[in-house]
Amino acid sequence: MSLTFIHITDTHLGTTCDELVYFYAPGQALKAVLKQIAADGAYDASLIVDTGDMIRDWSHPSAYETGKKIYGLEEKSPAPGPLRMRAEGMDLPWYYVPGNVDNRPECRKRLFAPDPGTALFNYTWKAQGIRFLSLDWGASGTNRYTLTSQSFNWLKKQLNQSCPTVILTHHPPVSIGIPMFDEMTPPDLNRLHELIAGSPVLAIFHGHTHHPWENRIDGIPVFGTGSVTYRRCLHHNYEQGMVLEIHPPQYRVVTIHSDGSVSAPIHEVPWRS
Ligand SMILES: [Fe+2]
Repeated sequence: MSLTFIHITDTHLGTTCDELVYFYAPGQALKAVLKQIAADGAYDASLIVDTGDMIRDWSHPSAYETGKKIYGLEEKSPAPGPLRMRAEGMDLPWYYVPGNVDNRPECRKRLFAPDPGTALFNYTWKAQGIRFLSLDWGASGTNRYTLTSQSFNWLKKQLNQSCPTVILTHHPPVSIGIPMFDEMTPPDLNRLHELIAGSPVLAIFHGHTHHPWENRIDGIPVFGTGSVTYRRCLHHNYEQGMVLEIHPPQYRVVTIHSDGSVSAPIHEVPWRS
């Protein structure tokens, strides 16, 4: 039996649906994404996952209200969900894995029901025999991230259990070959790769870069999904300022097939349809 889910990431919403962020309208972009997903019958997906950076930056936590409104999030439950996503007449279980603009306590307080959980969003849940792990690097308010012993040991414990597994995380667990991103990655990614190699992990999904990627860890596919919001030009010089690109918002429709193989095509929303 196969399982399908939708991966969205990096919406960077403003404090209203129409607010422009760097001349981009992320609220309208997310609305367009959800409209297209609904028009395509939600791909018969079993759930939808947002891997973080929902709000424009860490100093605008009220923007979580924009996200709740556009996603049509209902039925409070503890982090990481599921909440019910009712946008565009859909009804899907919705999970959230925070990124580096998500202050964890603010994110918990504004999106989820109170619970005695730890600060980090290291969680596990199952759907149709597939185990999902949300791996939280803990970085907030900074672009740099580290492999904390808390998250590493938690993941190690989870991967000791044999079960087909999908890892959802905000930051790329691999170097991607672009200096402006790779200079943010932890220097000890190798020990993460050693942990994942030979494990029951079927695939890993991440955001953060705002550009899509496909990499591998010991043959295990690692899919970076492009943002709903703006992207930075990959080859600009920071000292000369930030250069942004305009692009169609995107998401992936992921299918875990009964043989353990994974397909994850990118869908883009055309500017005019
Ligand atoms: Fe982001």
